Amino acid sequence: MATINDNYLKLKAGYLFPEIGRRVKAFAEANPTAKIIRLGIGDVTEPLPSSIRDAMHKAVDEMGVRETFRGYGPEQGYDFLREAIAKNDFQSRGADVAADEIFVSDGSKCDCGNILDIFGTGNTIAVTDPVYPVYVDTNVMAGHTGPANETGEYGKLVYLRATAENNFVPELPTQKVDLIYLCYPNNPTGTVATKETLAKWVKYAKDNGSIIFFDAAYEAYITDPNVPHSIYEIPGARDVAIEFRSFSKLAGFTGVRCAFTVVPKSLKGKTASGEEVDLYRLWTRRHTTKFNGVSYITQRGAEAVYSAEGKQQVKQIVEFYLENAKLIREGLTALGLKVFGGVNAPYVWIKTPGNLTSWQFFDELLSTANVVGTPGSGFGAAGEGYFRISAFNSRENVNEALRRIKATVKV
Ligand code: MLT
Repeated sequence: MATINDNYLKLKAGYLFPEIGRRVKAFAEANPTAKIIRLGIGDVTEPLPSSIRDAMHKAVDEMGVRETFRGYGPEQGYDFLREAIAKNDFQSRGADVAADEIFVSDGSKCDCGNILDIFGTGNTIAVTDPVYPVYVDTNVMAGHTGPANETGEYGKLVYLRATAENNFVPELPTQKVDLIYLCYPNNPTGTVATKETLAKWVKYAKDNGSIIFFDAAYEAYITDPNVPHSIYEIPGARDVAIEFRSFSKLAGFTGVRCAFTVVPKSLKGKTASGEEVDLYRLWTRRHTTKFNGVSYITQRGAEAVYSAEGKQQVKQIVEFYLENAKLIREGLTALGLKVFGGVNAPYVWIKTPGNLTSWQFFDELLSTANVVGTPGSGFGAAGEGYFRISAFNSRENVNEALRRIKATVKV
């Protein structure tokens, strides 16, 4: 009999969102007339803008003509998209990122997990708590952690607490860590990191020879002009950070699938015997060996996000979700709940009322208001007693969810 990767047996029951899906499905089967509103997983609801659809239609037509048909593309992405990204997302903000440092992929969730392929097994890894569970689970799968304790924390990981007391921006580690996961605007708390905060992290990483994995999947939701969109806006970050970006929440691509990872050529790691190695070289090797590129049609759609019309259209959709977030924030605050986030992010983070645990509040909200959110404890021990509400839904559903919450939740 073939042996398995034992590390999988260390994982807690199920990945958070499938577990929510399972509970909601059971509730829906038992209550077939309930009209459930889903504000749990951050999945977009608004249709793809016309500029993106037009570009994809055109690409489909090109695929139907011998002269313009395309087979395998470059694994790292077509130059037209990499150049548009470098210019619009980085160079326009003064961030020094070249087109050939951008690796186009089918999702930043996948990239956050895949990046571990090029790192060794002996690294000390820091995550914030609460945290996007993919960072933790992929390290468990790769054998970088010990078993979980009763609160669900894994041995060997360094947890950096993000609490109301520190405005959900954790302190630097008090020990030396090799890999650090940061996500800003933050999933799940909806908070942001200022230039000063990121500069502290970059300095820490330089001083300690660490690499920062910077997940900026929600950068399009930043409304404050002083908040950086990329870690490369911070001097020195090219030497210490890998950045993950996605078209999912920027342009409604959760079903289309397109993202990218930036690996600067100046980044270094070291071998077991201490020699320096370019991480760029390793990631190029990994990406071109295990991935065959995102479809031409999708990349043309992503390119259209940077056209004048595309920029205008995606901005409108982002503003629409941000208005939802504002309604949720204001509605729940008026109800007397303690509410965080939702200003520079599509997530609103609330303290559960009456000392309910996160899952108790989840069950209460589902059974009384038929509204689905995400239990904070699913993001880590420090998320216990909190609850995440996503702003990704139609205006009608957001207003109806708020009406039901106001009618049923006692604060
Ligand atoms: C979330 O709800 O946290 C995200 O949508 C999950 C993801 O992006 O994978």
